[in-house]
Amino acid sequence: MKRNLFHSVLQKEIERIDHSHTAKRGEKIIEGFTDDPSPRAIIKKKRYLIFNSNDYLGLRFESALRKGEENASQTFGTGPGAVRFISGTFKVYKDLEKALATFHKREDAMIFSSAFAANLAVLFCMIKGQSKDSLVSGDTLVVSDSLNHRSIIDGIRIANLPKEQRLIYKHLDYANLKEIIVSNTARYKRVLIVTDGIFSMLGEYVNLDKIRKIIETHESKYEEGVHLVVDDSHGVASLGANGQGVEEVTRAKADILVGTMGKGFGADGGYVVADKIVIDYLRESAASYIYSNSISPGVAGAALSAVNLVKSSKGKKLLRKSKDNIKLFKQLMKKAGFQFAADSIHPIQPVWIGDTKKTKALTEDLFKEGILVTNINYPVVPQGKDEIRVQISASHEVKDIEYFVKVITKSGKKLAII
Ligand SMILES: Cc1ncc(COP(=O)(O)O)c(C=O)c1O
Repeated sequence: MKRNLFHSVLQKEIERIDHSHTAKRGEKIIEGFTDDPSPRAIIKKKRYLIFNSNDYLGLRFESALRKGEENASQTFGTGPGAVRFISGTFKVYKDLEKALATFHKREDAMIFSSAFAANLAVLFCMIKGQSKDSLVSGDTLVVSDSLNHRSIIDGIRIANLPKEQRLIYKHLDYANLKEIIVSNTARYKRVLIVTDGIFSMLGEYVNLDKIRKIIETHESKYEEGVHLVVDDSHGVASLGANGQGVEEVTRAKADILVGTMGKGFGADGGYVVADKIVIDYLRESAASYIYSNSISPGVAGAALSAVNLVKSSKGKKLLRKSKDNIKLFKQLMKKAGFQFAADSIHPIQPVWIGDTKKTKALTEDLFKEGILVTNINYPVVPQGKDEIRVQISASHEVKDIEYFVKVITKSGKKLAII
């Protein structure tokens, strides 16, 4: 009986979410993919062009990744069987960590089940130690961009710092960031600046070089310095001629870089690259690494093939094609009269609509014409900033982009958006 009362609270909460227009459980179920150069998703036997995937280079259907996956699962089986420190450390995991460290020019790397799990671990462990005996005290000031990803917000949240020790700077506002660091001088032993590399709603990138300059100028004022943590999940294997993400584009480096293998790399799982001392410390402290399985050996095999592919001439060609596709998309959309919510150089292209109903109607029109795209509405973005988030892939052909623009132009005119 009491259980029913709690269930009615849950029911009301679901209704509250449904009314806020942010419900997510009515997903479209993809039954398979076609073997077109840009594979179409099959939904209720109909084919759809995909303009809302993070598979920026189209790697998830590459034969090299499938072979890597198959070889690893033939050798190691389908699951890890245990966490890393028990009997779950396989050669394929060590090979992948070495490849990621080399790819990002770092001393060491460590893989996690996801980038979300990596962020929780990195932030909790760098802010506080694992146990009450830890020598890492909570004497840290955390400064975080206001639009950071949920996994960063939660990582900071679980460290349970007093409010004055977890400050938020205005989105991409480097003057505000500097102000916070200067005004807290010497109050804490160390500072942790945390930011996304690419912000997933607008495709904007962070100017790491500007943050590095602030750090250089002010870090001596804190006993244990100022450290930069960057989550470049959307940037790795998508941005830069070598696919090294926001670090390559801004020619500046994070102290700790978090990435995912589940977007541009076309596989799954998260990772951290950093100095060996940091990785050694995380291996001894990160709960989501110590007490949780790693990715499956097959996924690690696919990810290892993906890193090698991105480094090859074929990878560089795909990165160039991605850049060309983005350029073509922006040109055609601007010519058709559409505006962008931000001037993004990344495959995430935010098409500004500015009205919730029109955004929804536009997405539905595109769906009817065989195109998958995501509408982003208030409260995810501020009121009046409703947008269609288009994600361009290197696997798109010119005719796919032209078809998209043709369909959205027709609908945009009908809805008086352009
Ligand atoms: C900035 C950022 N970090 C982390 C993640 C989560 O990545 P993963 O799926 O590997 O947990 C995402 C994906 O939405 C993201 O946008």
